[in-house]
Amino acid sequence: MSKIVVLVGSVRKGGNTELLANAFCDGASHNNDVEIISVADYKVNPCVGCNTCFEREGNLCFPQDDMQKIYKKLAEADMIVIASPVYFYGISSQLKAVIDRMHTPLRNFFNVKRLALLLVATADLPEVFDAIETQYKLTLNFFKLEDVGRVLVRGVKNKGDIQGNKALSDAFNLGRSLK
Ligand SMILES: Cc1cc2nc3c(=O)[nH]c(=O)nc-3n(C[C@H](O)[C@H](O)[C@H](O)COP(=O)(O)O)c2cc1C
Repeated sequence: MSKIVVLVGSVRKGGNTELLANAFCDGASHNNDVEIISVADYKVNPCVGCNTCFEREGNLCFPQDDMQKIYKKLAEADMIVIASPVYFYGISSQLKAVIDRMHTPLRNFFNVKRLALLLVATADLPEVFDAIETQYKLTLNFFKLEDVGRVLVRGVKNKGDIQGNKALSDAFNLGRSLK
């Protein structure tokens, strides 16, 4: 059994990202302890680049915002799932703020070994996920993490467009395959 934290990067409750993440969690919950952290429920300010986290116990960041609650959950995680809408060919800025703020503890302190990627986009372009996938691959290499899988969904725009999409069963099956 693994402890899996799913970071959901859309503030649109009931949106496509959340539905995709929920499908993954339904599958993963059979054999794992799974927790969703949605950016809609936390206020996390962006990293200010002070680098004082290098010296601090646990490499945590000093601002006493909601990132302190997220650190506690990440400290117990074996695996992180990045779930995001595509915003301007990147992940959402709310999710990027969380990821930037975990950079130093992820490198030195946390015990995360595996990553997965769930993305949704409106465009049907073959290259719509390329920038995020490049960043994801660089992250896997830098932090020496295992990629357990990706579910990338094109052509979904409005809330609920993903309903009935095969991607939901793909996400469920990816979660179900994990131990
Ligand atoms: C600020 C913003 C930027 C976006 N940029 C892109 C983009 O570059 N490419 C794309 O295909 N879709 C883009 N979208 C569309 C979203 O990725 C799409 O609507 C997605 O399904 C939203 O997911 P959600 O329902 O979880 O919020 C953008 C949406 C917003 C609000």
